Amino acid sequence: MNLANTQRVLSGMRPTGRLHLGHLHGVLHNWVKLQHEYKCYFFVADWHALTTHYEDTRDIADSVWDMVIDWLAAGVNPGEATLFIQSRVPEHAELHLLLSMFTPLSWLERVPSYKDQQNKLKGKDLNTYGFLGYPLLQSADILMYRAGLVPVGEDQVAHVELTREVARRFNYLYGREVDFEEKARNASRKMGKKSSKLYKELRNRYQEQGDIEALNTARALLENQQNITIGDKERLFGYLEGEGRVILPEPQPLLTKASKMPGLDGQKMSKSYNNTIALRDPPKEVQEKLRTMPTDPARVRRTDPGEPDKCPVWQMHQVYSSEGTKTWVQEGCRSASIGCLDCKEPIIEAVLKELTPIQEIVRNYQESPEAVRAIIAEGCEEARSEAHDTLEEVRQAMGLLYR
Ligand code: TRP
Ligand code: SF4
Repeated sequence: MNLANTQRVLSGMRPTGRLHLGHLHGVLHNWVKLQHEYKCYFFVADWHALTTHYEDTRDIADSVWDMVIDWLAAGVNPGEATLFIQSRVPEHAELHLLLSMFTPLSWLERVPSYKDQQNKLKGKDLNTYGFLGYPLLQSADILMYRAGLVPVGEDQVAHVELTREVARRFNYLYGREVDFEEKARNASRKMGKKSSKLYKELRNRYQEQGDIEALNTARALLENQQNITIGDKERLFGYLEGEGRVILPEPQPLLTKASKMPGLDGQKMSKSYNNTIALRDPPKEVQEKLRTMPTDPARVRRTDPGEPDKCPVWQMHQVYSSEGTKTWVQEGCRSASIGCLDCKEPIIEAVLKELTPIQEIVRNYQESPEAVRAIIAEGCEEARSEAHDTLEEVRQAMGLLYR
């Protein structure tokens, strides 16, 4: 099996501008934890932003720097993790191009986010070459650093899956060894005429057309073989997927638990729902947003009892409050002995306490933008050196070193 470097983590974020509490409790806390445990590469996926925002690129520069500053303020540490910007490592574009040569169109059309986003962002024409290639660009990002682990949310798992298929195909096409094929073909004959023929057909369908169903059927066929040795079975599994030399190892997704932080309306916190508390919201605004946020709609008057399970404020207590406070909320709400404003007070306090140090760091970096530029310059250089090495190997494997 081809193992990637499981000590190495890579993840990217599109520059959506200023981050909010959803990002903090979902992604950023996780990154901060990972940076202590692994060699981490975190980058700004600015080309990915272009795939959907190609028409108006005026905000992209500010969004990039705002986002990097928010990462730093949230505790992402450039002394531990390598921070860089995708477009500053142009090797990503070269690898993307090379991968595109042998990636079947059907693999990209089948990625769920392709149709989903086209339907969701109806106002935009996403019938573009770039948008179709979005997940393949992501594959290039990942494979470039031979990362074993890719922390992503549920919606991105399919992209890591695609990356695995692409890596396998690359290794098949450009990493084969001579006598490996011989041995595999001999092993195939030992399955008997019928199975051997079926195996060959399925393998061709997978390798020539990228047909995953054929791959799975062939795997099942091998699974059920009783009369061949384990060694031969392994050969046939490898031959099926085209193993040999492993130039680009397959990564694993590291699923990030969805953040428990609700938006102000109880839905998922997201800029597009307009229900966020940004990391940079001034205290007055935070206070105002929380004071006016909706609660259990059944609690019209102060004397009406409420039900925490129907209230987004209760979800916030689950993020921020101690057991004691939570009991106070449950009892006070159901007996109407506390009002909603009382109930929100500990949340307001906790959020402000969380944001105060973050905002102080933000202010410091805003006052010295050159420090942020230097951190990124250093990260980019490190990333480029890594990317350079990978591409040398990729070009060599593909026979592109004639210069
Ligand atoms: N597509 C990811 C997102 O929207 C961002 C991203 C780009 C990424 N390249 C990546 C994430 C590589 C992980 C690894 O969130
Ligand atoms: Fe929600 Fe608290 Fe009001 Fe109950 S008392 S409805 S939990 S805000």
